[in-house]
Amino acid sequence: MKFFIDTANLDQIREAQNLGVLDGVTTNPSLMAKEGITGRNNILKHYVDICNIVDGDVSAEVIATDFEGIIKEGEELAELHEQIVVKVPMIKEGVKAIKYFADNGIRTNCTLVFSAGQALLAAKAGATYVSPFIGRLDDISTDGLNLIAEIRLIYDNYGYDTQILAASVRHTMHVLECAKIGSDVMTGPLSSIEGLLKHPLTDIGLEKFLADYKKGN
Ligand code: G3P
Repeated sequence: MKFFIDTANLDQIREAQNLGVLDGVTTNPSLMAKEGITGRNNILKHYVDICNIVDGDVSAEVIATDFEGIIKEGEELAELHEQIVVKVPMIKEGVKAIKYFADNGIRTNCTLVFSAGQALLAAKAGATYVSPFIGRLDDISTDGLNLIAEIRLIYDNYGYDTQILAASVRHTMHVLECAKIGSDVMTGPLSSIEGLLKHPLTDIGLEKFLADYKKGN
């Protein structure tokens, strides 16, 4: 499973990259705003800065909601850097745009996906990635992980190439469960990745090994 980090914070992206297990970055307008990145030029520059830190794909989201606007913005974003994947919302105009981008060699991430039907449509249109938001489903007492399993089943039934990118991952158990189900990618905060490191028996074991070494040296 690929590990993406879901942030526009350059320090966190650097830290995840330095850990050596980072495969990409996802952003959205809220995450950009959280870092105080505003204004079209600053936002575009920030995407390039992110691409220069990470080796893998970087999702950059369009703001337009009409077909022509999505195409114009998406082409501009894709031109920025070869690692950019254009993030397009799951709306009717977005589906049309995903099909257009697929036909024109521009990679896409279909975002704001909350049902298996939406994911099926994204794959039919030729999305590179589909982003089901599992945490936000959990927030409204609906099983987000079950959606990942449903999409996995559907995509495997027909051999769709679209990669399942579990988004709105909130914690380490989400990461682990996504891996069990067979999600292609997960995107979450750095803490959700670092949580995989932790086990008290590792800490106790290491402490004892080091103490025993010291006794003999
Ligand atoms: O990748 C989607 C993500 O940014 C949404 O996460 O935690 O705001 O639901 P969250």
